[in-house]
Amino acid sequence: MLNPHEIISEGSEVVVYIDERRRWIVRVVRGKVFGSDRGYIKYDDIIGQTIGSEVKLSTGFSAYVLKPLLIDYLEKGFRRRTQVLYPKDMGLILVLLGIGPGSRVLESGIGSGFMTSVIANVVRPDGHVYAYEVREDFAKIAMENLARVGLDKYVTVKIRDIREGVDERDLDAAVIDLPNPWEALDSIYSALKPSAPVAFFLPTVSQVEKLLNAIQEHRGFTDLRCFEVLLREFHLVSGAIRPRTRMIGHTGYIFFARKVIVK
Ligand SMILES: C[S@@+](CC[C@H](N)C(=O)[O-])C[C@H]1O[C@@H](n2cnc3c(N)ncnc32)[C@H](O)[C@@H]1O
Repeated sequence: MLNPHEIISEGSEVVVYIDERRRWIVRVVRGKVFGSDRGYIKYDDIIGQTIGSEVKLSTGFSAYVLKPLLIDYLEKGFRRRTQVLYPKDMGLILVLLGIGPGSRVLESGIGSGFMTSVIANVVRPDGHVYAYEVREDFAKIAMENLARVGLDKYVTVKIRDIREGVDERDLDAAVIDLPNPWEALDSIYSALKPSAPVAFFLPTVSQVEKLLNAIQEHRGFTDLRCFEVLLREFHLVSGAIRPRTRMIGHTGYIFFARKVIVK
């Protein structure tokens, strides 16, 4: 990550932005060059510059050196070994669950750590994510992704099937992205404080129905709601501004519930 003075130094990670299709996260190494189909840049010419500066490629094309945001790592930096949540869905999940600084959050599974990174970024410095994941190899990649952006210290990952139970109690919220979440309801229930919310991410309508039936039978949750988020990006050309022809047509459904005390 960059130093606090926003001056680019050896070892800084920066986004080299040429245009919407040509953007990369790179680490600045003295004596080396960054190459692209638009030409190259000597890293020595970037060192000492202020982040946000324009730099010229060898061909005369312009590029900008920008400070990486978490979205840049989600789009260009993190390794991806599983299906991952998309920003459009992550945003609604954070708002529905009221996750903020200090929140203690249950997550399962960690997958590639994409959702985990967004939660950890919001709960820090005093909050924490407790993630349950069955696949050790996925957990390792997720923690490497989190370490790359300095967020691993806000996450504890446990290699365990969440259906076997969780250690934590009185957590503020839960984010569940599993194929069979209805089999984990008792574990989720035991981890949450009364009234705390949970968001399930489900790719198919049949899973939504199965979860609905199971959660109604369980009786430990109320305020059941289900959402789908559709996001259209726009094509930004003066005189022809319009939605892009292609969009992400389907990711999944967000199923929300809150824990209640069962008598
Ligand atoms: C779709 S991925 C999660 C992706 C994650 N939300 C992200 O944004 O990177 C689902 C994960 O759940 C894990 N998983 C599946 N069943 C599980 C269970 N019963 N307990 C814990 N983890 C489980 C899988 O190994 C996989 O890593």
